[in-house]
This record gives sequence, C-alpha cells and structure tokens, in this order.
Amino acid sequence: QGEQQVNEAGHLMIDGADAVELAHTYGTPLIAYDVSAIRQQIRRFKKVFERNQVDYAVSYASKAFATVGMFQLVNQEDAHIDVVSGGELYTAIKAGFPMEKVSFHGNNKSRAELEMAVDHHIGVVILDNFHEIELLSEILKEKQQTIKVMLRLTPGVSAHTHKYDQTGQEDSKFGFDIQSGQAQKALQQVLANSQLEMLGIHAHIGSQIFEVNGFVMAAQKLVDLAADWQKKFNFETRVLNIGGGFGIQYTKEDDPLAPEEFVDAIVKAVQKQVTLRQLKMPAIWIEPGRSIAGPAGYSLYTIGSRKEVPGIRPYVTVDGGMGDNIRPALYEAKYEAVLANQATAKPDETVRIAGKYCESGDILIQKQALPKSQPGDVLVIPATGAYGYSMAPNYNRNPRPAVVFVEKGKAQVIVKRESYEDLVKLDCSFV
Ligand code: LLP
Repeated sequence: QGEQQVNEAGHLMIDGADAVELAHTYGTPLIAYDVSAIRQQIRRFKKVFERNQVDYAVSYASKAFATVGMFQLVNQEDAHIDVVSGGELYTAIKAGFPMEKVSFHGNNKSRAELEMAVDHHIGVVILDNFHEIELLSEILKEKQQTIKVMLRLTPGVSAHTHKYDQTGQEDSKFGFDIQSGQAQKALQQVLANSQLEMLGIHAHIGSQIFEVNGFVMAAQKLVDLAADWQKKFNFETRVLNIGGGFGIQYTKEDDPLAPEEFVDAIVKAVQKQVTLRQLKMPAIWIEPGRSIAGPAGYSLYTIGSRKEVPGIRPYVTVDGGMGDNIRPALYEAKYEAVLANQATAKPDETVRIAGKYCESGDILIQKQALPKSQPGDVLVIPATGAYGYSMAPNYNRNPRPAVVFVEKGKAQVIVKRESYEDLVKLDCSFV
C-alpha cells in the first residue's frame, strides 16, 4: 500500500488525479488504477533478471484483472500474459495481444478452448493432466499443427497462506505429481509426440506469499527434476516457470518482501542448483498477478447509511461491497480504508465498513479508524486491483462498477459501468 499521496485540499490522489473528483466524474462504485504503478511493478520484476543476466519472461497472470485495456498496457511494457480460460484468451485476442507471448493454464481446458489456442498459435500450453495431453494431441493431429508445451507439476511444497490460495502441495487439483511418477509418465507421452514441443516445466506454489523459502524449495526441486530428465531422457529443460504468488501489502500488518527480493532469491536458487547439477542454465519465467495489478488498484465508494449498535462499532455503509470485492467475504481478507475527502484528518471513531448486498458477511472492513464521515463522503480502499473486478459477481442484480485507468493526472474509462439493460441482456422471456 505504501505512502498515499494527498493534495492541498486534503484529498487522496491516484496517479496525479484527485480521488474525490474521479468519484464525482465517473460515479461510484469505481475502480481506479494507478497506471504508473502497474508499469513500475512490471519494470521492477524485469530489471532483476536483467541485472542477473538471465533469460526470462515476466508473464502477467491475467486472472488478477483481465480486460482489453489491461492487456494493452501489459503489452506496452513488453511482458507476457497467462490466461486460464477461453474468455481470457478471447480478451487477449480482442486486445491485439501478441499470441506468441500467451501461456494457457487451467486444470480442465475444454476441446473448444484448446482448439482456440491452437488456431491462434499461442505461445505455450501448460499441460495439467493426462486427459489434456490426449485432447491436445488429437486436435494437433486433426489440424496438422504443432505447439509448444510445458508440464505443470506439483512440487510438494506447501506455501504459508490461506488454504484456498495453496496450490503446490501434493494433494492439489492442479498439475502432475512428481513423487508418484505421474510427471515422468507425462513427459514420456509428450516426448513421444512430435507435434508437442516440450519447452519446460512449471510450478506455482500458491498466492499472497510473504517469504522466499517456498519459491527456493520449488526452484531446487524443479532443477533436480530437470537434471534427472536430462540424464534419463536426454531432455533439455529450456524454461523453468516458477509461477506467481508474490505477496502484497493490504494493511499495515502485512510485511511482504519486495518484488526484487523474491525474484533475486529465485534466480540465485536456480543458478546454484544448476551449477550443482551441471545443467545448462534455463530461462526463468514468473507469473505475477496480484503483485502487478493489486497495489495499483483503488476502490472508490460513496458513503450512505449508518447504523449505530450500542456498545459496538457502528456500521458505515458504502454503495458497493461483495459485488466489486468479494475477498473479505470469501477469504476474510483484510483491507484498510481512507476517507478520500479528508485523507489526512485524524480518526474520530472506529467503524465497520459494510457493503450494500443482502448478506451479513458483506462487510468490507471489520475495524476501521476514520474521521467522522457524512453521507456523500468518498471512501477509498487501496490495494484492490487484483481479484476484485475480476471476481465481481452480479449478486442482487447490482451492476458491476466502472473501471478507469489514471496516468499522470489523466483518466480514461477502461471498462464501462454495467447498466440495468446489460443486466437483463441475456435474460429471455418465459412464454
Ligand atoms: N500462476 C498460476 C498458475 C496461478 O494459479 C496463479 C494464481 C498465478 C500465477 C498468480 O498468482 P498471484 O501472483 O496473483 O498470487 N482469488 C485469490 C487468488 C487466486 C490465485 C489463483 N492462482 C485471491 O483473491 O486471493
């Protein structure tokens, strides 16, 4: 979250724009992105690899926030993306994103999705299971094409994070298990098919991780496996993909490492193990989602009703909630809020920030110290750029918010506010 900028009026600033003005111009709830922060974050990741003179790709995990404008911005920064569905791939196509820089993830890609990937000549399909190897092989045979692939592996590393955010442990729905020999069997199947060009191996251990240990262990395991496979099958691992998961700061209590520290530790771990196992240094790919989109996003709300509960914190209600940010309800995720029109004022009270959805769990923040607020005040929750809009449901038929990109004081709409008409667009009359 870091230092927030405030202007002379005492209003919160988002990449040079006054948050209160943004709320008035575009309406609320609104999600505003600090574009400079997104650019900077991508550049920070890339710089570490360049400093270490390692071949690399920074692949933005687009599930964090996947829209046409976001893909175009990521492309301006010359990064890759990963997609996990036909819908994300379609969005990338619409954005004119270079298909050779797209990786396709997912534990149950459909035939139609794989065909779309093949037809658009995407960079690499990250194979997750045996069914998929078979399905993709069939498609390639029919279309007489080839495609680059990687194998997603479960390295048997548990990340210390929310259990919904763990993916690297052996009992996971994702990837081929290394221990039981699944991974090796998958490799043999892939190597036996000349239409599959085996590029490398992938592991993703989880999300919102604060320390390097898990990444270092996963990197070592992947290099060891690459060394075994070199010996056994004369297969050269050209790419080692370590996934994403680098944690970000949501509240003052959160103390994650900097992007540089994560990447540096991964690079050093790979280099060390590669030397030990006398391997050729592979390219290292990473897939940060949250750490690119998260810190740059701000949710802007207008305060409405207030309910006093004798002896307990009052409920201060905003015009959004679990429909634009489901993370507090789903993961008990913690956030902090700022009163944008009094960003430097001292707090007068501690309140609960409630959403407007018909669900008792729709509380965005359980305990927030704030200056005394009025209906009409603008409340801003920072660090909502990842898994906010991208997970937004239409519960209660509330339209999803608009999204704006702000760069050096200039704002532009990147996703229009959903209208009531949009909400019924797919509904059919019952006759
Ligand atoms: N690569 C793979 C294969 C992944 O599964 C994920 C996230 C990422 C990269 C990006 O991870 P990140 O850098 O964003 O942590 N909805 C949850 C997070 C789900 C993450 C799923 N996979 C949340 O809001 O906390």
